Amino acid sequence: MERGRLIALEGPDGSGKTTQIQLLEEYLKELGYEVVRTREPGGTEISEKIREIILDNDNSNMSYMCEALLYAASRAQLVSEVIKPALSQGKIVICDRFVYSSMVYQGAGRGLGMDRIKSINEAALDGLEADLVFMITIPYEEGLKRKKMQKTLDRLENSGNEFHKKVFQGYLDICRKYDKIEVVDGNRTVDEIHKDIINIIKKIKL
Ligand code: TYD
Repeated sequence: MERGRLIALEGPDGSGKTTQIQLLEEYLKELGYEVVRTREPGGTEISEKIREIILDNDNSNMSYMCEALLYAASRAQLVSEVIKPALSQGKIVICDRFVYSSMVYQGAGRGLGMDRIKSINEAALDGLEADLVFMITIPYEEGLKRKKMQKTLDRLENSGNEFHKKVFQGYLDICRKYDKIEVVDGNRTVDEIHKDIINIIKKIKL
């Protein structure tokens, strides 16, 4: 059987990724594809437990390297338990965040360096690569404002403006570096963004 496809959605907090993922999932299912949706950190029982540790506001003294390794650990479990099996069954996997989030948040935001984060994650990914990545852009101040209206901010969201500014800059940098990242303007209506994503999807062979 032909390997399935891995599509990841990336973007700053509050960029509207999750809404777009729901719409994309519905669209692909209507076309008859089998779709598996995951999120990071999380997406398996073990990874969701790791997520709780990472995002807990009580863990304010967590070292940046510990944080980076926990994201990678959560990802390793998700890759082996969910993503790889689904791809080998020919399914489409849509990821709410992927390794690019680590490169940007821990590499650029925390200052650990993108290359170092990339190499830590090589073990977790075990050769897996995304086929297509969408980056939904939105000014980070706007994203955090949206988040504050929806929920209590978690430890990462509470990391301050300077951190989020570096994360945003990191996203711009990796978009320039990787051809497979498609940049989508998130400062429009949900429907406009969805149409853009679908048009791009139509261009790749699913
Ligand atoms: P997310 O689930 O997108 O947040 P929410 O459910 O609140 O929309 O991601 C949780 C946080 O983790 C988010 O602030 C981004 C951060 N993050 C990293 O710092 N590194 C990573 O590798 C990943 C996957 C997420």
